[in-house]
Amino acid sequence: MASIVAAVILLVLTRSKHVTAQVDPTFAASHSCNATCQAYTDTGLAFEASQHATTNDPFYTVSSNFTPDSQPGTILSIEAVTNLTNYTVPSGLTMSRFQYTTTNLNGTAVPASAYILWPYTPYIPSNSNSSSESKIPLVAWAHGTTGSGASCSPSNYQALQYNFIVPFPLALAGFTFVAPDYAGLGVSHFANGTRIPHAWLSSPSQANDLANAVLAARSAFPALSQDFVVMGHSEGGAASYAFAERQVHSPVSGYLGAISIGPLATPIKQVEAAFADPQDKFLQSTFSYQDMLIAAVTADYPAYNYSGFTDLGLKRWQILMEYGGCLPTSILLFADVNLATMVGQPGWYQDTTVQTWAARISSGGRPLVGPLLVIAGEDDTAVALETVEGAFNASSALSQNANQSMDLAVYQGLDHFPTIDGAHAKWMNWIKARFDGEVIASDGLHTSTFIEGPRLAGTKQSTLPNWLVQLPGPLDVWKTAL
Ligand SMILES: *[C@@H]1O[C@H](CO)[C@@H](O)[C@H](O)[C@H]1NC(C)=O
Ligand SMILES: *[C@@H]1O[C@H](CO)[C@@H](O)[C@H](O)[C@H]1NC(C)=O
Ligand SMILES: *[C@@H]1O[C@H](CO)[C@@H](O)[C@H](O)[C@H]1NC(C)=O
Ligand SMILES: *[C@@H]1O[C@H](CO)[C@@H](O)[C@H](O)[C@H]1NC(C)=O
Ligand SMILES: *[C@@H]1O[C@H](CO)[C@@H](O)[C@H](O)[C@H]1NC(C)=O
Ligand SMILES: *[C@@H]1O[C@H](CO)[C@@H](O)[C@H](O)[C@H]1NC(C)=O
Ligand SMILES: *[C@@H]1O[C@H](CO)[C@@H](O)[C@H](O)[C@H]1NC(C)=O
Ligand SMILES: *[C@@H]1O[C@H](CO)[C@@H](O)[C@H](O)[C@H]1NC(C)=O
Ligand SMILES: *[C@@H]1O[C@H](CO)[C@@H](O)[C@H](O)[C@H]1NC(C)=O
Repeated sequence: MASIVAAVILLVLTRSKHVTAQVDPTFAASHSCNATCQAYTDTGLAFEASQHATTNDPFYTVSSNFTPDSQPGTILSIEAVTNLTNYTVPSGLTMSRFQYTTTNLNGTAVPASAYILWPYTPYIPSNSNSSSESKIPLVAWAHGTTGSGASCSPSNYQALQYNFIVPFPLALAGFTFVAPDYAGLGVSHFANGTRIPHAWLSSPSQANDLANAVLAARSAFPALSQDFVVMGHSEGGAASYAFAERQVHSPVSGYLGAISIGPLATPIKQVEAAFADPQDKFLQSTFSYQDMLIAAVTADYPAYNYSGFTDLGLKRWQILMEYGGCLPTSILLFADVNLATMVGQPGWYQDTTVQTWAARISSGGRPLVGPLLVIAGEDDTAVALETVEGAFNASSALSQNANQSMDLAVYQGLDHFPTIDGAHAKWMNWIKARFDGEVIASDGLHTSTFIEGPRLAGTKQSTLPNWLVQLPGPLDVWKTAL
């Protein structure tokens, strides 16, 4: 008995060493964040730390073999077997992490990290013969917005952030899940100490991260299939859409198609729409991501230098970056700010550099390689259905895309994250069909389907995910009993 108590106390002490950054009051005060704002921010940072699987992990220090002329898709370091003690990954599944070289919007080499979630046994395509069975089907996943700070990398989270929404079910179904942390998240600095900024919604950049993570993973792990499907949601939905467009000029072999769920394909257009109609309930949340957009333009065009921010907006952003806060902290840090009027300068999105950036990063309206399955929620309050339809229609109207299969499935009444769950059977079967070798006719008919939910009124709805999968504390293991 005594030894159990001692072991428990030891565990408590060990875990309490999990120190959390606290906002320096002097710094915060000089950044227009009073005591209430500081307390909120500290709460956000502590919560995020409680969700991390690792802290100050040397895995995310840039590998010494990274050089500016390192080839995109090169493996820089491999952790073949990740210790899952601090992850909530289902039993049977295993994980690897690796560092690889990717490129930013201008094609400059940058290091980044990724994780692989391995199934216990692979999915066996229905038409396969024994020689192809030994390869494990690969799904490349583009995650949604996590934040722009150094610790906002999904590979560093206990539940990999999308947990039972996407990675766990796909790996449990026998797919190897290759998931880049986008450049700037995770591996956050070059060896000389220069910060690698995350260019949020710079979709061609995130499409590069996907492509290079696939190339690197296949070179490091020959057990992986050459064939792969790309899938993403929200920021990642735009990335997977951009990947289908990237295939036109920089094809990665083995591509079987892409799924894009709730893509924020034209973010600056959505900002314009929100300011034109500030009361539209589907555009309200747009105001909350102006900070990430202004920082993203600066990441891709450093000379822009955050000039869209108000003084208050810039100071709050500096706190967020100084302490490495992600989305939860960002929500609390800006809780006392009128997001529509106090973060960005009036009309900041009309600036020439912003518009140049918007034209480069938007997806939709370019030639692409299908099949492409776009999934949207009718009542998405983060990415308006109009945004998704606008991109789909623009791609659809291009004559070059006439022979590419493109489907849009709109789910009645569903919000941003519920759409992924509502469409679960659709995307799961679509992925299996690609590996089964089922061919979708490319007859120039781009279909749009409206899916009704007969029991819709009874479902839970929220802009945010309806899951929080956490490790039990050492004294709380009993809570994990049924
Ligand atoms: C798991 O978390 C504990 C407490 O933060 C830490 O001491 C330990 O090193 C971590 N283990 C691994 C394998 O990351
Ligand atoms: C902090 O500022 C907010 C408004 O920005 C105000 O509502 C609140 O009362 C202030 N709190 C303190 C302790 O000054
Ligand atoms: C994983 O890490 C834990 C400490 O967090 C350690 O006790 C355990 O031995 C490690 N497992 C392996 C296989 O290295
Ligand atoms: C079986 O696998 C081999 C090697 O991958 C391939 O050449 C052959 O076409 C496959 N046969 C069928 C029926 O799929
Ligand atoms: C640091 O290294 C990166 C990558 O090699 C380079 O792009 C950047 O200019 C360097 N920064 C400084 C201040 O030398
Ligand atoms: C990318 O190229 C543009 C010119 O096309 C340039 O203005 C910008 O500074 C470059 N961005 C970076 C991060 O070097
Ligand atoms: C960016 O603007 C700040 C003032 O807000 C200034 O101090 C800094 O020198 C500028 N940096 C560049 C690269 O223009
Ligand atoms: C897209 O096209 C469909 C079918 O023509 C139309 O009903 C819808 O209004 C269009 N949406 C947008 C945003 O262009
Ligand atoms: C059909 O797709 C191919 C690429 O797969 C492309 O080369 C060709 O131009 C397309 N045809 C038309 C009519 O757009």
